[in-house]
Order: sequence, then structure tokens, then C-alpha cells
Amino acid sequence: MKRLGILLSGRGSNFQAIADNIAAGRLDAEIAIVISNRPEAPGLEIARERGLPAISIPSKGLEREPYDRLLLAGLDERRVELVCLAGYMRLLSAAFLRAYPLRVLNIHPSLLPAFPGLDAQHQALEHGVKYSGCTVHFVDEHLDAGPILLQAVVPVLEDDTVESLSARILKEEHRTYTEAIRIVLEGRYRIEGRRVIRW
Ligand code: GAR
Repeated sequence: MKRLGILLSGRGSNFQAIADNIAAGRLDAEIAIVISNRPEAPGLEIARERGLPAISIPSKGLEREPYDRLLLAGLDERRVELVCLAGYMRLLSAAFLRAYPLRVLNIHPSLLPAFPGLDAQHQALEHGVKYSGCTVHFVDEHLDAGPILLQAVVPVLEDDTVESLSARILKEEHRTYTEAIRIVLEGRYRIEGRRVIRW
């Protein structure tokens, strides 16, 4: 299982980090397709510049299930085996997840279950936590839920802004996502309840 499908909605720096790690031989996988639900996502342009297949399937005005059917068709066509959400800002339907059982990963910029949803770094600053970080988890039909594969911790400093905290977390995201994908591709884990046991 090596063919990755990347879903994104924006900047695409996590996608870039994955592509860089593959190109450098640090991750034995290939990016079979990059799909964005937003045609103007910079991540799409970056993918095309790198010569990777990249398409936009606009989600505007579409209900979740019909939209996800279009997504699934795009992924099936490219024989995608593992789906990686990289700043993909939509919930996936149960029908989508049935097509890729425990084959969808997400990265989130907080130590889940703290601060799910939008603006996780802002939420962490406002709450006054002293540490935050990022989480890579298997996706289920709930928002930023699902069994946790890996987390990385960063300190929250007194003079942090959303930008400075986000940058510190993002650096860890880029490292952690590739490591999590490697664990899944190599099958070095099992799931017991919510717990992901790795070896
Ligand atoms: C990343 O910080 C990612 O963790 C976050 O969006 C950003 C995308 O950046 N995802 C979520 O908040 C998902 N709930 P990128 O487009 O540069 O990878």
C-alpha cells in the first residue's frame, strides 16, 4: 500500500513536506493524486509545478454525500490506497469512510482532544495552555476525532502570537505527518478501542 491521495483546501505546506520526504527517499510512497475542494488553493499549483497529478473538485453548493462520491471517483481512478488530509477543511461522510476504512489520516494543529475545529492555535492561546502541538489521527465521521497515531508537543511562550505559535507547531506537523504515514504504510500498529499500539 503506497499510493497516497492528498486532500487539501489551502496553502499545502504539509503536502509539500510529504512530497519532499518522498523525493528525498525518506518515505517509500508515491503521491497518486492531489485533490482540492477549493480551485484557488495554492497547494494545487504547488503540486502541478512538481509534476504531480492535481485536480480541483469544487465543493461549493454541494451536499456532503454527493460531493464525497465525486471525491471517491477521483481517488478510485488513481487507485489511491491511503488518503491523507492536509489542511482539508471539510468533514467526510460515513459513506466515504466506509470506502476507506482506517485508510484516512488527518493532521490537526493541537494536542487533541483539546481544541478541535477551526483556529486551534488561537483557541490554545486564549485558553492559556502552556503546551500545545499537533496530532495525526485516523479519521472517523466526527470532527478531529478518531484514534491517535502520533502527537508532538511544543511549548506556548508568554509572548507568542497566533503566528509564532502556528509556525512552531507547523514545523512539528511537517515532521510528524511523514512519520505517521510511514507507520501506517509499514503496518507497524494495531488498534485496540481508541488506542493505537505501535511497534
Ligand atoms: C495545518 O496547520 C493543519 O494542521 C490544519 O490546517 C493547516 C494546513 O496547513 N488542519 C486543520 O486545522 C484540520 N482541522 P497547510 O495547508 O500548509 O498544510
